[in-house]
Amino acid sequence: MAFTLPTLPFAYDALEPWYDEATVRVHHSKHHQAYTDNLNKALEEGKVETTSVESLLKNLDSVPMALRTRVINHGGGYFNHNFFWENLSPAEKTTPSAFLKAEIEKYWPSFDAFKEAFSAKALAHFGSGWVFLVLTKEKTLEIIDTHDQICPLSLGYEPIMTIDVWEHAYYLKYQNRRAEWISAFWNIVNYECVEKRLKNALSK
Ligand SMILES: [Fe+2]
Repeated sequence: MAFTLPTLPFAYDALEPWYDEATVRVHHSKHHQAYTDNLNKALEEGKVETTSVESLLKNLDSVPMALRTRVINHGGGYFNHNFFWENLSPAEKTTPSAFLKAEIEKYWPSFDAFKEAFSAKALAHFGSGWVFLVLTKEKTLEIIDTHDQICPLSLGYEPIMTIDVWEHAYYLKYQNRRAEWISAFWNIVNYECVEKRLKNALSK
């Protein structure tokens, strides 16, 4: 099957002023599209049949060696961006529920302390990559960062929430000021989505 670029659950300008229309448009229609196209090309050339990008990323050992780096890069890029867009939302929907707050506060002293830890990891990440809140195999929450397009699914984690810290995610508006992008992110997190993912991961 060929993968398709998902339609965003909001308009390109819906996340203004935190996330500008021009960046969201090019990030989705150019960068995410390129990962989608390159993943399809790799699978077609390698004659790999799959039903989901998740199963590819969870079972990289079953991907032919000659194709594996392309699946890590473009399959990861395809999945990570889908995952990122889903956990964004216009600002008026961004309050964590009591359930989510209580789960987070099992691992961090407060929800604000969690936000600080996540932000610090995102700021400290060197080069291109992602920061994820993940559920471990032991069903505990952790914050991890991954390089390039490495997906937590390939590392045995269930991803719950993410921020893209590649420069292409913020450079048009924020240039080198990654800290401002991270700070803006907290105004556009879709906590409904984050909670749904956490409940789903906890129940597996
Ligand atoms: Fe990106």
